[in-house]
Amino acid sequence: MNQQLPLIIAIDGPAASGKSTLGKRLADDFGYLFFDTGVMYRAVTWAVLQAGIEVGEEAAVTALAEGVQIDVASPSKEDGRACDVLLDGQDITWEIRRPEVDGNVSPVSAFAGVRKALLEKQRRIGLRGRVVMVGRDIGTVVLPEADVKIYLFASAEERARRRYNEIVARGEPADYDEILRKVKTRDQIDSTRAIAPLRPADDAILLDSDALNFEQVVEKAKEYCHK
Ligand code: DC
Repeated sequence: MNQQLPLIIAIDGPAASGKSTLGKRLADDFGYLFFDTGVMYRAVTWAVLQAGIEVGEEAAVTALAEGVQIDVASPSKEDGRACDVLLDGQDITWEIRRPEVDGNVSPVSAFAGVRKALLEKQRRIGLRGRVVMVGRDIGTVVLPEADVKIYLFASAEERARRRYNEIVARGEPADYDEILRKVKTRDQIDSTRAIAPLRPADDAILLDSDALNFEQVVEKAKEYCHK
């Protein structure tokens, strides 16, 4: 083990900024746990939709978030997943990537009770160390004691373009303008909510990936980790 490596690495940033891909890569290269906190908010959103609960019903959504068991485990299949996501034991790894979850996760994650229900679990996992934790509020709220905090961002247009290319590469139909509109809507909700809004921690390193390819982003992030 490299003693120079930081024990807790926090990566935050807006939707489609590439933070999960970066986090997974750093975790794999360092032999650390990769924990993408976004999957927990997605799992709650999926459960809300499955239960037929109106996403604006704060009390019902919060009660559900408090009552469900969400587990994030090492990948059990080689189908491109970074980890397994289990909701009360059911594998919902791919269900949480569906458009209806994309479209509803920001309002669900804005509820204070939902955030509280997930926060303790995230902190417990993070404080064990040797972890790369990814989200919107890791450096500011979940793990303010993180040794390295990276805020990864790019323009909305660049992020929409990357998302568009990913979808087209999977052979699925995609509409760039629609994707851009959704990226901007999520940015707006995530960064203006009252609790734990998306913003860089005061001691975060700002990493603008607009003009960088993925390998260059990895290289810069590693430079910060080795400092
Ligand atoms: O990173 P993602 O797109 O999978 O995140 C899904 C949503 O979850 C995002 O719109 C905001 C929310 N989220 C959050 O509020 N706090 C986090 N730490 C991670 C995600």
